[in-house]
Amino acid sequence: MQDTVQIDGVTLSLSNSISNELQWIGQTEVLRQLAACWLVVDKSDLPLAPRLVGPPGIGKTALAMAAAKARDQELYIYQCTADTRPEDLLITPILASNGKIAYHASPLVTAMIRGAVCILDEGNRMNEKSWASLAPLLDHRRYIESIVAGEPVGTLFVGRGVTMPAWKRWLGWSADSRGRIVVDPGAQQAVVAQGRSLLAAGVRRLEGSFATGDVVSLAGEDGREFARGLVNYPEADLRRIAGLKTEQIAGELGYCPYDEVVHRDNLAVIRRDQAPS
Ligand SMILES: Nc1ncnc2c1ncn2[C@@H]1O[C@H](COP(=O)(O)OP(=O)(O)OP(=O)(O)O)[C@@H](O)[C@H]1O
Ligand SMILES: [Mg+2]
Repeated sequence: MQDTVQIDGVTLSLSNSISNELQWIGQTEVLRQLAACWLVVDKSDLPLAPRLVGPPGIGKTALAMAAAKARDQELYIYQCTADTRPEDLLITPILASNGKIAYHASPLVTAMIRGAVCILDEGNRMNEKSWASLAPLLDHRRYIESIVAGEPVGTLFVGRGVTMPAWKRWLGWSADSRGRIVVDPGAQQAVVAQGRSLLAAGVRRLEGSFATGDVVSLAGEDGREFARGLVNYPEADLRRIAGLKTEQIAGELGYCPYDEVVHRDNLAVIRRDQAPS
């Protein structure tokens, strides 16, 4: 059974920590240098996120593990590849066996929540877009968001003292949307101004092709996107129930797994100024 936490009403399944019995041999100076990166004297000081570079096999990963052990902190390792996407680093929505969407926190986010050490191993392989999603985490902002393009850097860790990102920032700003749901003004108002879920009744038309759990854009009748969220129905089903009242869904589809098309917990409003008055 995996550990879970509740954040903003969303249940996150956490990653597992690595058992770490690494004994660092000799070379105490380099271990001290690394430990110094996390030294804070005052509460307002921020620990650094050091990058370790060096030839293959020199002991970079081993050093990072040894430093976590010396600090007696839990250790998480994320293995970076060229295919790592920003959401892999943060939170991945997964369709669970019960048909619901489960949210899995990456080793990095789990380490942030737990106040642990995370090694982004082989970070040099990771693409710029994924690094960019971590930029605010690595500076004074201390949360995850995707705005500025980051430099490709190497192995790095995040020490304690970071705050949990609003994962909705990812949803709203860095996730790629697979399709678009155009809604009527009443539904837009309910979502933007009242923080409500999107119901089938407010759906006017669809663009693009998406499956359950995909990120979709919500747009007003003017075509402007005002929110993003994870959709509970595949596009083909949603076409059939667009405009219907929730109690009519089962009659049309033969099933009604969700009352909401996009639940408010899985939705990030990105243009508050677009609320129709
Ligand atoms: N000072 C040390 N103390 C203990 N073990 C070490 C030390 N230096 C290197 N090692 C050992 O050497 C091996 C290679 O180290 P490691 O895997 O950390 O290298 P790396 O720099 O991460 O390499 P790569 O770039 O290939 O990932 C490991 O088995 C590690 O335990
Ligand atoms: Mg290594």
